[in-house]
Amino acid sequence: MARPLRLPAGVAALLLLAVAFRAAAAPAVDVGVNWGSQLSHPLLPSSVVQMLKENGITKVKLFDADLWPVGALVDSGIEVMLGIPNDMLETMNSYGNAKDWVKENVTSYGDKLKIKYVAVGNEPFLKAYNGSFMKTTFPALKNIQKALNEAGVGGKVKATVPLNADVYVSPDNKPSSGAFRPDIEDLMKDMVKFLHDQGAPFVVNIYPFLSLYQSDDFPFEFAFIDGGKTIQDKGGISYSNVFDANYDTLVTALKKAGVPNLKVVVGEVGWPTDGDKNANIKLARRYYDGLLKKLAEKEGTPLRPGKMDVYMFGLFDEDMKSILPGNFERHWGIFTYDGKPKFPMDLTGHGNDKPLAAVPGVEYLPKQWCVFDDAAKEKSKLPGNIEYACASGDCTALGYGCSCNGLDEKSNISYAFNMYFQMQDQDVRACDFDGLAKITDKNASARGCVFPIQVISAAGRAPVAPAVAVFAALLMVLV
Ligand SMILES: *[C@@H]1O[C@H](CO)[C@@H](O)[C@H](O)[C@H]1NC(C)=O
Ligand SMILES: *[C@@H]1O[C@H](CO)[C@@H](O)[C@H](O)[C@H]1NC(C)=O
Ligand SMILES: *[C@@H]1O[C@H](CO)[C@@H](O)[C@H](O)[C@H]1NC(C)=O
Ligand SMILES: *[C@@H]1O[C@H](CO)[C@@H](O)[C@H](O)[C@H]1NC(C)=O
Repeated sequence: MARPLRLPAGVAALLLLAVAFRAAAAPAVDVGVNWGSQLSHPLLPSSVVQMLKENGITKVKLFDADLWPVGALVDSGIEVMLGIPNDMLETMNSYGNAKDWVKENVTSYGDKLKIKYVAVGNEPFLKAYNGSFMKTTFPALKNIQKALNEAGVGGKVKATVPLNADVYVSPDNKPSSGAFRPDIEDLMKDMVKFLHDQGAPFVVNIYPFLSLYQSDDFPFEFAFIDGGKTIQDKGGISYSNVFDANYDTLVTALKKAGVPNLKVVVGEVGWPTDGDKNANIKLARRYYDGLLKKLAEKEGTPLRPGKMDVYMFGLFDEDMKSILPGNFERHWGIFTYDGKPKFPMDLTGHGNDKPLAAVPGVEYLPKQWCVFDDAAKEKSKLPGNIEYACASGDCTALGYGCSCNGLDEKSNISYAFNMYFQMQDQDVRACDFDGLAKITDKNASARGCVFPIQVISAAGRAPVAPAVAVFAALLMVLV
């Protein structure tokens, strides 16, 4: 693929800058967003940051401290929660390593990067991890905070551990019975006292969608903020939605653990748009509309009235995410894989839904699709090839109740082939499948199911330093 010439790239950069100046007018919104990186074809971080600014988004949560996205956030004014992945927790049990991490990933940026939190691990006590990170998480947390303190930034940068809501339980499903999970109760008590002493918050991920997904008996309307279904708790307290009930279950657990005033941050909340019968645009929009309105009204929960600190999950659909928890895992984005808003929203929560600004300058592969070749002979080889395509490509939209469930058998096969072909950057060798497939320039989308064209991955593209781009543009003006 030929790269654009330098001078046009400079002009493009100037245009982007112009967009940036216009964007400065977007009203700042209070809600943050999770920016994950498990995409086969990531978008250019500087363009993503451009989009965040245009939409007035002022805080992001990352899952690592990768220089690529972090570099784009330097001087952006956007507040950042950096992450330390679970597989680095053990390493951080050495104080020397923790000090190095803080030096390289926090203090080296000085005041140019607005780091507010360091997330030590991600949901490390999840039951699915079988206790793998039970021993290493708290020592890592202590080491990172100590390193931050010693480096002189501990006053403004706090280490914490984002946890799944499964670290606390309520035997009778009432918030007033909340307590930490028995197998980790002592550990949790020590950890929340440490957070409290350091002035760090408790970060929790709450998923009303999963409540619904995990139990057919779950009252559907209770999943939504505007559902109207309520449950009663002790003392005449009434809960109108599972998000509030879940949050207050944690508040009760914190009270029992001796830290009734520990600050709570919701690290992840959102609704997926595909991959399950309840994962679609309509329900996601309903969920976010209710949530954003609630946040804007600063009503809080019955036990913690007032302003809430919340990060939406997440920014983009991520086609490399594990689908072990469910096919919906790859569809949490409020933006599509190619940086387009999925549905109108008002991030200020005032109900004036409009399309969010898209990621600028996204470039696509050619308009061609890989489809099932009707004339092919060896049809007996179909099942193996479909399985192969779906193992590497993404077939999560084909299931029951999903966006591509209405396809006929031929289109169904084509969908699987095309997803693999696009993932492989449209390599002709990725559209063979034992002679069962062919490339076409006719849009293969059918029956409300979009057969995507993949974007040109920004990974491996040399980042253009803004100063260089501006210089190149100036040069062109002079020439
Ligand atoms: C800084 O963060 C990056 C990205 O998460 C990681 O790969 C690197 O090892 C960290 N640096 C140190 C010194 O630990
Ligand atoms: C946890 O244990 C189950 C059952 O023993 C196993 O299937 C799974 O792979 C384990 N997961 C991890 C992350 O070790
Ligand atoms: C379409 O493909 C999916 C995934 O391979 C499969 O579960 C489903 O049964 C197929 N449907 C039809 C109509 O062939
Ligand atoms: C293909 O058609 C679908 C459905 O009409 C449309 O949404 C999509 O944008 C088209 N794709 C391209 C690359 O034109």
